[in-house]
Amino acid sequence: MPLLVIYLLNMPSLENRNKSTLAELGVSDPIAVADEFAKLRNVFDFQLSAKSQRNEVIYRDLHQAWLGRKSGVLSEITDNWLKTAAGALKPFVGQELNAFRKYVEERLEQFHKEVETRAEDATNAKDRVDLSLPGVARPLGSRHLIRQVFQEIEDIFFSIGFSVVEGPEIETPYYNFEALNIPEFHPVRDDMDTFYMELPKGAPGQLLLRTHTSPMQIRTMEKQKPPVRVIVPGRVYRRDNPDATHSFAFHQVEGLAVDTDITFCDFTGTIEYFVKQFFGPSVKTRFRPSYFPFTEPSVEFDVSCVFCGGSGTTASGTCGKCKGAGWIELFGAGMVDPAVYGFVGYDAKKVSGFAFGIGIDRLAMLKYGIDDIQAFFQNDVRFLKQFP
Ligand code: FA5
Repeated sequence: MPLLVIYLLNMPSLENRNKSTLAELGVSDPIAVADEFAKLRNVFDFQLSAKSQRNEVIYRDLHQAWLGRKSGVLSEITDNWLKTAAGALKPFVGQELNAFRKYVEERLEQFHKEVETRAEDATNAKDRVDLSLPGVARPLGSRHLIRQVFQEIEDIFFSIGFSVVEGPEIETPYYNFEALNIPEFHPVRDDMDTFYMELPKGAPGQLLLRTHTSPMQIRTMEKQKPPVRVIVPGRVYRRDNPDATHSFAFHQVEGLAVDTDITFCDFTGTIEYFVKQFFGPSVKTRFRPSYFPFTEPSVEFDVSCVFCGGSGTTASGTCGKCKGAGWIELFGAGMVDPAVYGFVGYDAKKVSGFAFGIGIDRLAMLKYGIDDIQAFFQNDVRFLKQFP
């Protein structure tokens, strides 16, 4: 006979004996009473040990089945066995019943304790810190490429005696335009489509997001007497439509040097030094005449195209970066216009100087071969990770 069948046949069962009176079961003496309780105990023990799992639900089921007030086995036995027992047998039944109740209660309490201990162990195991396990490695971030380029530029200018200052991104039209010799209605304002702030009604004046770092020329000269040698890294804003080389928020580094004897040669020498340090000695440079109301003369500064080596062509034809010109425009600059000195209380007859404003995003694009300025602002980790 298969083992499972033998096991099932031997399973102790109540056989509904609890629902009959002792008389119906043919029990009429103390030994038979003890025998009946022994059978009950067997069934109870079996049910308890058959529960391989120890949890709250199983405990409650067992408790209900044996000690439940209305239909628990012990209530039924009290009603059917004790209350109906013949007078002489009653004390024996009562004695056995009490002993059995105690036994069931103790075993069930024990069972419940095990349930609680297991639950506690499970919680502790979850919370326990295993110091022998390897730690959680948190990836370290790195500086954004624009920040790295700022740092490179700052290092180069530090090495030739410039210091770094920073200024507000929200400016007044006075610093952004007027003190830079760009009066209201001057056509050059159209070159810098500007974000004006919405101010409460009746607020005096206007505020705008600076369109360039040049306002810091004024703020710096207002604060200190010559000699001045500063660079100003920072973010600027223009209402430009985004494309591969334009963004509505981008970065510039302003440079300003003013002293009693600064010449155009100092200016070109400084710029060339910077460009060769930044791009390497083989890069060629050139100035082209340009116009800014706050510099005179004004220039645009070009470098030979770093993608085609200045030839204007690559293996696949015309160089797409410089469009065949062999040169790429880098930034605007010039000798500070004497009219600007008038706004800051400098004597235009005694001082001279130069200023420049470099677009950092485009500079980084050139140096690192990035063909879309938007990549700097999209925060794609795959892009950022290439510049650890
Ligand atoms: C100026 O902003 C002047 N303040 C520069 C200057 C300073 C001239 C000091 C003379 C003396 P410009 O508008 O050309 O100039 O901008 C300077 C650089 O900013 C550009 O060469 C370009 O590299 C960058 N730039 C301009 N507009 C954008 C834009 N929308 N997105 C990204 N870069 C831009």
